[in-house]
Amino acid sequence: MKWNNSFALGIEVIDNQHKKIFERLLAIENAVAKRDPWHILRFQLDELGTYMKFHLAVEEAMLEVIRYPGRLQHAESHAEIMKQIAELEEALKQNSKAEDLVRFFENWFLKHVLAGDREYANYIKMEFAALMEGRNA
Ligand SMILES: [Fe+2]
Ligand SMILES: [Fe+2]
Repeated sequence: MKWNNSFALGIEVIDNQHKKIFERLLAIENAVAKRDPWHILRFQLDELGTYMKFHLAVEEAMLEVIRYPGRLQHAESHAEIMKQIAELEEALKQNSKAEDLVRFFENWFLKHVLAGDREYANYIKMEFAALMEGRNA
């Protein structure tokens, strides 16, 4: 799945990280479509996992700093994402319906970005409007 600007939350550093995740997902999609050997897919899944872990840690740290009320719940949904990646890797190893599995994960991750992430982004925009628009300067 390609990144689409309608996925943007308006927080540049987070949007850039989400873009990188979609790039990695697209690479996996292509590898699956080309029927690349397992060691290539495995490498790409590792890269996705490593970057995802970094991104989720950044978000969680940011939500902690701003004392976002839903931060614990949000962190729980992140733990679920990491579990899903591990499951995706396991399922792709068996290689049954690989395209469907990747698509399922992509849609699932997109839902997180458009629901859970958008929710904290709206909160930040509301609570820190002056900061976001540079009115404090
Ligand atoms: Fe995110
Ligand atoms: Fe998130």
